[in-house]
Amino acid sequence: MCNNQPIGFLDSGVGGLTVVKEAMKQLPNETIYYIGDTLRCPYGPRPVEEIKQFTWEMTRFLLEKKVKMIVIACNTATAIALEEIKATLDIPVVGVIVPGARAALKLTSSNRIGVIGTIGTINSGEYTKAIHRKAPKTEVFGLACPKFVPIVESKQYESAIAKKVVNETLEDFHDKNIDTLVMGCTHYPLLKPLIKEKMGDSVQLIDSGAETVSEVSMLLDYYDISADATNKEGTHEFFMTGSKKIFEDITQDWLNVTDLSVTRVSLP
Ligand code: DGL
Repeated sequence: MCNNQPIGFLDSGVGGLTVVKEAMKQLPNETIYYIGDTLRCPYGPRPVEEIKQFTWEMTRFLLEKKVKMIVIACNTATAIALEEIKATLDIPVVGVIVPGARAALKLTSSNRIGVIGTIGTINSGEYTKAIHRKAPKTEVFGLACPKFVPIVESKQYESAIAKKVVNETLEDFHDKNIDTLVMGCTHYPLLKPLIKEKMGDSVQLIDSGAETVSEVSMLLDYYDISADATNKEGTHEFFMTGSKKIFEDITQDWLNVTDLSVTRVSLP
């Protein structure tokens, strides 16, 4: 049995596009509906209850669009709301933390893993918990990087300022001797060249969002709900709550597509 309904992706802003990019590559038959709450981004420094409420608002928005699966393409929202949303909905719901943690465990040899994320993600300790559930002796070094998301949302990810901020922030890892670093925020892969340059070749970077798409692919098979090859291409829909111009610019730049359907919406 196949199912040509869309898969819904949500994020506080443009970060989830890093997951969408991978989904477009690995799952070209699938139709993607994306909601980015760019007006209220960043979520990272907000109180837990507010993040939960906003995540539910995006979830309901996608449910009204009749999605067959929801990907919480935001680490902060995953850390705070995944469990509740998963337990409430009767369609599959996927988060980005467990796939990121699993990939880090696969790659590390020294069992010293760094995790960078928003204040909300790092304070939740969800990465450390996910890693320790499988490998309790692994050392996990979490670092909140609250300056990264505003740089990405304002499309400055290739600027000299971005380089300076990345270098200064990641200096924290200089004595930690990690061999693997999880980019535990879906915005961060847009800063990957700078993060890579700072961390050097001895540290492997994990893109938690990209890892998630392999899980999405597996779940589509498990529930037998993959789209078939007759599903029309180019029907992806992007929704956001803030400035349309900057969202379109970043989406075109990152996804390398021009004829995008982008609609500005209001969430309650
Ligand atoms: N992209 C988001 C994440 O993965 C959150 C960014 C934010 O709104 O602070 O955590």
